Amino acid sequence: MSPTVTLPRRRTGTGEIVVEARDLKRYYDVGGGLCGGGGLVKALDGVSFKLESGKTLAVVGESGCGKSTLARLVTMIEEPTDGTLLIDGEPVGESTPELRRKMQIVFQNPYGSLNPRQKIGAILEEPLVINTKDNAATRRAKAINMMERVGLRAEHYERYPHMFSGGQRQRIAIARALMLNPKILVLDEPVSALDVSIQAQVLNILMDLQDELGLAYLFISHDLSVVRHLADDIMVMYLGKPVETGPSEEVFAHPRHPYPAALLSATPVADPFHEKNRIRLEGELPSPLNPPKGCAFNPRCWRVEEDCRQKQPPLIDEGLQSHACFHPLPLDEDFAE
Ligand SMILES: Nc1ncnc2c1ncn2[C@@H]1O[C@H](COP(=O)(O)OP(=O)(O)O)[C@@H](O)[C@H]1O
Ligand SMILES: [Mg+2]
Repeated sequence: MSPTVTLPRRRTGTGEIVVEARDLKRYYDVGGGLCGGGGLVKALDGVSFKLESGKTLAVVGESGCGKSTLARLVTMIEEPTDGTLLIDGEPVGESTPELRRKMQIVFQNPYGSLNPRQKIGAILEEPLVINTKDNAATRRAKAINMMERVGLRAEHYERYPHMFSGGQRQRIAIARALMLNPKILVLDEPVSALDVSIQAQVLNILMDLQDELGLAYLFISHDLSVVRHLADDIMVMYLGKPVETGPSEEVFAHPRHPYPAALLSATPVADPFHEKNRIRLEGELPSPLNPPKGCAFNPRCWRVEEDCRQKQPPLIDEGLQSHACFHPLPLDEDFAE
């Protein structure tokens, strides 16, 4: 047993589904390539999930696996090539302003996402100016209230973005995202650009805000250790497809697909007494322009067999988890302990 492992937060949701994705796909036609090939990049190739009010679904995978593409589809910045998206039970067609207001996004880069010529007060009030009839005094009060919620002080209202640290700027971006009282936040690598020492601070603020405001989070990260303590559910992606999904505790305790197992054994929180479980993930994510035949993970997989090279494994449910693997790790093999 490992005494230092903190269990993920257990919270009871309301059961209300605020985002549902049904087989979402996004293909990019990249035209003729250098070798005359070009073709279709299947950035997202069939993703389904349900996100409950007040809960966190973490989407995890290496750079290039389609996480930001998913974020753009869910926030209606881009339309899917195929599939259906429901926000608050309503299918998204011509993305209505009402649905947009329920959903906000925070990007990875806190430097690029704030207008350097606007003061913090103006940045926070802009969504109110555009979307509400609030007068100046009300807007100011709402902005200052939100600044305090994210740990900024009232005197920061008159300052410009360049006067803040990366962590503070990310808190400003979070505050701005919350100004119209959304139900859902899409967080695309919200702490990846920050120093490790600052990451926990921002994550703690996000968790407090979630508890206070009942927000649902779609939390995107390339790093499993970041989502360990805040995710209720996890979806691990590989080359545009989910390879494993399930409650966070289950996926961390006994991953079934070799890819999340390898990611987990590479994270520093793995138990040092169980060296035998160390798996090294070799090679790189294959090009989505030229994906391997069969299971996309097969060239890097240590459990590969002939069928993996021939056919794509479908995502199948087994217990609370689902996995896309012909030869999954056994359930009774306790991975973490
Ligand atoms: N607008 C685009 N045109 C062509 N290819 C794209 C476009 N956006 C993303 N891609 C490709 O789709 C794949 C997934 O990208 P992305 O969603 O940004 O992944 P991640 O956020 O996980 O790093 C990558 O191979 C990327 O090069
Ligand atoms: Mg990305």
